[in-house]
Amino acid sequence: MSGIEVAGLVLGCLPLLIQGIESYNEGLDPIKSFMRWERELPQFIRKLRNQHVHYAQTIRILLEPITSEVELAEMMTDPGSSHKLWKSKGIALQDKLQESYQAYQSTIGDIERITQKIASKLDLDRATELTRNDLEAIVAANPIKANDRFEFRKRIRFGMSKKTIKALLEELDDCNKELERFTEKSEKIETYRKATKPSYATRLQRLQRYAKSLHESLTLCWSCSCKSSHNTSLQLESRGGLFASGLNKMIVSSKTSFNVSFSTITADGKGMPWLVQAAEICVEEEDGTSLTVMPSPKPKMRKSVSFGTPPPYALLDPAGALASSLQEVSDLCASIQQLHKSASTIGFSLDSKSKLRGAYSIDTSEAHIPASGLVSLENLLNHPPIVNGRCSKLSKKERYSLALTLASSVLYLNSTPWLTDQWAAKDILFHRTSTTARPIDIERPYLAPALVELSKGLPSGSKPRGFQNKNTVLLALAIALLELYFGMTAEKYQESEHGAADPSVHQNPWLLCALAHTWAEEQTEDLSAAFLNAVRHCLRCFSDPGASLQDAEFLQAAVEGIVLPLQEELHQFLGKTAS
Ligand SMILES: *[C@@H]1O[C@H](CO)[C@@H](O)[C@H](O)[C@H]1NC(C)=O
Ligand SMILES: *[C@@H]1O[C@H](CO)[C@@H](O)[C@H](O)[C@H]1NC(C)=O
Ligand SMILES: [Zn+2]
Repeated sequence: MSGIEVAGLVLGCLPLLIQGIESYNEGLDPIKSFMRWERELPQFIRKLRNQHVHYAQTIRILLEPITSEVELAEMMTDPGSSHKLWKSKGIALQDKLQESYQAYQSTIGDIERITQKIASKLDLDRATELTRNDLEAIVAANPIKANDRFEFRKRIRFGMSKKTIKALLEELDDCNKELERFTEKSEKIETYRKATKPSYATRLQRLQRYAKSLHESLTLCWSCSCKSSHNTSLQLESRGGLFASGLNKMIVSSKTSFNVSFSTITADGKGMPWLVQAAEICVEEEDGTSLTVMPSPKPKMRKSVSFGTPPPYALLDPAGALASSLQEVSDLCASIQQLHKSASTIGFSLDSKSKLRGAYSIDTSEAHIPASGLVSLENLLNHPPIVNGRCSKLSKKERYSLALTLASSVLYLNSTPWLTDQWAAKDILFHRTSTTARPIDIERPYLAPALVELSKGLPSGSKPRGFQNKNTVLLALAIALLELYFGMTAEKYQESEHGAADPSVHQNPWLLCALAHTWAEEQTEDLSAAFLNAVRHCLRCFSDPGASLQDAEFLQAAVEGIVLPLQEELHQFLGKTAS
């Protein structure tokens, strides 16, 4: 259990313990207890209650910056049944406390131990199926009945010596003071950090601008007069560096690039010099920071870069200062033809004036030459491929990692023409490969060219809106997350739960929204905290017509509510530490 979950558990348990001791005290024979130490019990109860108030206040201050008002209210009033919400705040709290996090953890651990000691001397009911943690068992077995009161089915007994109580209360007081100190300190750090730390929203908005201008320039560059039609699919990436915090922020300063796959379709299928071509397009950063912050890049031995057009010194950083020395691309089809035979991947660069420049060849050692033939996510979920005679469904790792990639991509592509509002699993495509062991390249999802082409020719920013509400992209994400988590399409889920699938569900956002709500609620117990949180966040955004992902604050909240929890859960699953 993480520090934050424990904090919530203690918060849920303390009032229960206090009420338990009170109930014991009320049942005592006044004459008898007067003669014994128990005459001091009311004073101990008062002290314990004060400690509880102190603790609750500190926790509230700690949580305030990382929760919405509604969330905070839910977490504080009923910590026992908002366990998932508590759990979901782990990474945010860690990010907030940074260096103090370890110390915070151990203080909370102490408080838990003290609470457990008190609880062990009270014969409250315990849920028998929960053997993991005594506090958990107590909270589960004693829900709040009315007016913040618990109801005990029997007389509660409490058996602890005066000396022990006294010592525990003193220790609890110490811990509470310590906890308060972290909070104060972290508030100071926070103000400092706010001034220095670029928010996720700023980085995402920058990436949105790059994606938009890439789209514009590609549209201009498809100027060939050959009779074939060409498509561009965009590879979706999780872009972990974008969402790194603390020390990992260093990664952010690495270059920005987009991978795409170009394809051709001809009437007779013959005579065309190229059919599919992978390309990497490096972006010249707006402010050039990435070029100066990074230690001087070493030529990568793994990659050999050679140029269709000189100069070879671009080996060091084709995206950077040297971009201007590459030729401007005027006919993309011709540029691809030139290098298609000799390069598995073609490199381009997008300069700061949104001009596409290149091309040069990049030969990666682990060449992932896309074979023609694509499989959609919808197809993969409905009809997993047969590998070596076995049906190979998406693994949990693949589904978790795809979920993160989709969530992240939606946030940086939402305001660009690359992504339509009503995208769905059928629009996420994977290339077939020529290896039999892994016939489909699951690690590289692409956005269907159909989606990209749809918006071709429209002035940027005026992508077709099938629906008034601005946040349908997030509704689509909620559905995709549920599909990935459970490994089945929305249609299959409808079929299994309600007998028949409604074929129009993807066309009607309200139907889709109702479906997502039902699905998430019916399966709440099975959903992981991160997925449940992310889906709920998406659905809240969808039903909030006033908010838009163009808005920095809303975007920031989306990162914190959707991407970070998924990222943390994937890391936990892979056994990486969160920091
Ligand atoms: C993008 O393409 C480059 C060049 O082929 C490759 O090295 C890189 O791994 C690709 N990125 C992703 C996320 O697949
Ligand atoms: C390009 O997109 C169009 C429109 O979706 C599609 O019909 C066509 O098959 C695609 N061509 C290729 C080569 O993928
Ligand atoms: Zn052409």
